[in-house]
Amino acid sequence: MVFSAALSALALSLPLLSVNALRTRRALCPDGVNTAINLACCSLFPVVQDIQENFLTNECGDSAHGALRLVFHDAIGISPTAGGGGADGSIATFNETELTFPANLGIDDILDEIGPFLLKHSNTMSPGDFIQLAGALSLVQCPGAPRIPFFMGRAQPKAASPPNLVPQPFDSVASIVQRFGEVGFTTPEEIVAVVGGSHSVAGADDVVPGLQGLPFDQTPSVFDTQIFVDVQLRGTIFTGQGGNQGETETSVLGTVRLQSDHLLARDSQTNCAWQSFANNQAAMAEAFGQGVLKLSLLGQNQDELTDCSEVIPAAIPFTGGPATLPPGLTMNDIEQACATAAFPSLATQPGPATSVPAIPQADDDDDS
Ligand code: HEM
Ligand SMILES: *[C@@H]1O[C@H](CO)[C@@H](O)[C@H](O)[C@H]1NC(C)=O
Repeated sequence: MVFSAALSALALSLPLLSVNALRTRRALCPDGVNTAINLACCSLFPVVQDIQENFLTNECGDSAHGALRLVFHDAIGISPTAGGGGADGSIATFNETELTFPANLGIDDILDEIGPFLLKHSNTMSPGDFIQLAGALSLVQCPGAPRIPFFMGRAQPKAASPPNLVPQPFDSVASIVQRFGEVGFTTPEEIVAVVGGSHSVAGADDVVPGLQGLPFDQTPSVFDTQIFVDVQLRGTIFTGQGGNQGETETSVLGTVRLQSDHLLARDSQTNCAWQSFANNQAAMAEAFGQGVLKLSLLGQNQDELTDCSEVIPAAIPFTGGPATLPPGLTMNDIEQACATAAFPSLATQPGPATSVPAIPQADDDDDS
């Protein structure tokens, strides 16, 4: 007692500031402008600024959505049996191979857009690092999305990903769960958070012929839980390429629903996890952030990477309210699937039903 009191007194009398300073003191970068705790991260500041201002144009729009999708399509290219480098940038370097994979439909547009930035900064960072940095930055453009850590130091990719590792929208839940399981996503919650959460800030350019920028939920520029509601409404599903084409979502006008999201919300393996995120912003953002971080490290040894999280700006807080039902709908329109708990009770938006506007395209001229 006496001893510990004496220790506390000693601790209090020590210059606490300098102890903290060891961990948090920022030094001036060679550019004379930015400061960093780890000077090895200084070279990233101009890259961050270029991505934010010129690629993402400071918004949670089409480019941010594309950058997030690219994180997944690069990272998931690894398997214990088939090999592959995971989050290694192979989708950029070996684009001629990986863009032939059917699941990478639409990735050509994203690469066309991000490619010049990636190549411009290739002396500063590898393609794998660039894709993950752009993904982390895309999240801090979307209100409600978490700020995730960023690690630097991925080696140059060695080869293209093996084929058939990216899930497709007409895959069964069993196969989606199995594919994610192979890369270490072991609970339905972490799978559903990363798929549903990302599709909260997303839309489709290549699913419905002739229509671009069709949102997956009512709020594609806000990272919220509305996707978990909108997909649980009774309504049409849409498989996309190779499946039944021609209709868009009927419950939420202007949106489109992937069959994979529809089934994740309903299959007994995943439906309670899906429902658990509806109107649960904090849990969703947390589980999603953990999941994207996990994706960003696939095929990488975190101990060999440098933590440059300090270059990622602060997240934009969520200021929206609770999730809601579209005008005119009631809880009876929710297709209850989880057998052990009821869907959270939601209010209906006032007013007449309106169509959700399409997401403006970053590259209006080259969609095919
Ligand atoms: C079962 C797993 C998944 C399937 C089947 C799937 C499928 C799709 C499809 C078909 C599209 C529309 C592409 C287009 O037509 O342009 C899409 C868009 C998107 N996906 Fe996924 N996805 C899955 C998981 C994920 C994950 C884990 C992430 C990120 C962590 C992600 C992020 C996105 C984003 C951000 C978009 C919108 C892209 C844009 O608007 O340009 N997806 N997804
Ligand atoms: C796409 O592949 C071509 C040919 O391999 C390559 O020259 C180009 O740099 C690649 N694009 C990106 C963004 O890496």
